[in-house]
Amino acid sequence: MSKKSISRRGFVSLVSKAGALGALISTPFISKAGELIKEEEEFGFLTLPYLQSPTATSITIMWLTNKKAFCWIDYGENGILDKKAYASHNGLIEANCGLNKIKLENLESGKVYQYRVVAKEILDFKPYKVTYGKTLNSESYSFKTFETKSDNVSMLIMNDLHDRPESIGHLINLNKNDPYDLIFFNGDMFDYQTDEKQIINHMLKPCTDAFATKTPFMYVRGNHETRGKFAREFVNYFDNISGNFFFAFTQGPVRFVCLDTGEDKEDTHPVYAGIVDFDHYREVQAQWLANEIKKPEFRKASFRVVLMHIPHYYSEEEHGSTHSRKMFADLFNKGKVDMVICGHTHTYKVHDRKPGTHNYPIIIGGGPQNGERTLIKLKANTRKLSLQMLNDNGNEVGSYALGKDARKQDWSI
Ligand SMILES: [Fe+2]
Repeated sequence: MSKKSISRRGFVSLVSKAGALGALISTPFISKAGELIKEEEEFGFLTLPYLQSPTATSITIMWLTNKKAFCWIDYGENGILDKKAYASHNGLIEANCGLNKIKLENLESGKVYQYRVVAKEILDFKPYKVTYGKTLNSESYSFKTFETKSDNVSMLIMNDLHDRPESIGHLINLNKNDPYDLIFFNGDMFDYQTDEKQIINHMLKPCTDAFATKTPFMYVRGNHETRGKFAREFVNYFDNISGNFFFAFTQGPVRFVCLDTGEDKEDTHPVYAGIVDFDHYREVQAQWLANEIKKPEFRKASFRVVLMHIPHYYSEEEHGSTHSRKMFADLFNKGKVDMVICGHTHTYKVHDRKPGTHNYPIIIGGGPQNGERTLIKLKANTRKLSLQMLNDNGNEVGSYALGKDARKQDWSI
C-alpha cells in the first residue's frame, strides 16, 4: 500500500471490513509545486446496506455511494437473486444520487430473502446521453420479513449514546446469541447533527458492522438529533414506517407506538433562533395518537408499548416533558397503554405504575458514559410482556413483567 493510501485510511476504514466494498475516499494533498491536487477517487460504497421499516410484506434497504450512481437491488429466495428492485417515482427511476433508499414490496410474511445492492457509477449525465462507469456489487446478505401471525416479539433498545459509536457494538454484544427481531434507537444517538460523515461513522457503520445488513432498526429522534446545521437533512438517512419519526406498527402480540418528543426547551428559547416548531409538532402527534388508540390493531393487541425519548414524568419539569405530558398522558391512560420506554435523563430507572397518574410503568434507559449505558431487552408473547435492562457490564439493573390477565384485572380498579 502506498503512503498516499495509508494517509487516507481514517475515513476509508469504514469500508475496509466490507470485502467487496472497495471505496477509497480521497483527501486533497499538496504537490511539490504547492498546487492543490484532488486525487482521483475510486468509485465505491460509503456504507454497507442497512435495513429499515420492516413489515410482514416489505422492507426498505438503504446505502450510500461516494459518487453519483444508478443503484438497484438484486434479491430472491434460496440464494437465487433473480428479482430486481428500483426506486421509481413519477416515471423516473432514482439515479444520479449517492443516498439510496429502495423498498422491496410484495414479499411473503415470515420468509427469508437474500439480496445484494448494485451501484453503477454515472460519469456524465446529458439529456440524451448518460455515460456509465464501473458497476459494483455488495456481498449477498439475508433478512427475514416479519411474521403476520407471530405470537412473539423480541426487541433491543438503546438510547442516549451521544456520538459514541463504539457503544452500539458493545451494548449489542451484551445480548450474546439471544434472538431478536429488530433494534430500536430511542433518541440522542448524536450530540448534534454536523454532516453526512458523522451519520455514517457514528451510526451507520457501527450498525452495519453489528447487525443492520440482516436485521432492521427503527429510530425516533431525541432532543439532540434536532440540533445542528445538518438536522434538516438528517431525516433523509432513515426510513421509518409512515416516513415520519412518529409511527405505529405491530409485531407479534405488541402494538408499538413511537413518538417524537422533540426539543426539551420552549420553542421560543433563544438557542433555537426562532426556527423550531415543536409544540405544534407534538399537537399533531397527539391528534394522530387519539386516532391510533381507536384502531383495531391497537385495541386488539395483546400489549401496547410506547417508545419515545423524553419521559413525560420523572424528567424535571422541562418544557419538552411537561408539554408531552399535556399532549399524551391522558391518551396513554385512555388507550390502556401497558408500558412507556424512554431515555433522556441519562439515569436508568424503572418507575412502577402510578394508578390515576400513569397507569403503566415508565422505563428510562441510561447513558452515555461508561457505567451508565443500558441495553433494554423487550420480549412478549400473547400472555406476557417482559423487560430486562442491562447496564454496560451486562448486569441486570431493572426489570418489569406484565401478564395479560393481570393487566385486565388492573384495568377494573
Ligand atoms: Fe435527550
